[in-house]
Amino acid sequence: MIGDWLDIGSVNQITPGNARTLPVRGGEEIAIFRTLGGEFHALVNRCPHKHGPLSQGIVHGGVVTCPLHNWNISLKTGEALGEDKGCVPVIPLKIDAGRIFLLRSAVMGQLAA
Ligand code: FES
Repeated sequence: MIGDWLDIGSVNQITPGNARTLPVRGGEEIAIFRTLGGEFHALVNRCPHKHGPLSQGIVHGGVVTCPLHNWNISLKTGEALGEDKGCVPVIPLKIDAGRIFLLRSAVMGQLAA
């Protein structure tokens, strides 16, 4: 059902290898990434280490490297890779007709309690 998904705009607003952020009123900012391979992923924009802004990190493969201390975070699972431990919430995302949609209930789940 389309009502379950939030249309956040065209895929063209994010160039490959980059990210943009989506503020959530009263909640966590969400980062939407586009990989060089053309995949899209949405994560809460807060590194599991010390809350660095993942949207400003470097995207390579299916991974973003945090700009603060270089932790590598999987864009698919939100988990820190290698020796590092931690996980950031992933927001389900789909592409339809050139538009990016986020699962509404997952976005709402990021609102502060
Ligand atoms: S805050 Fe991201 S690696 Fe430290």
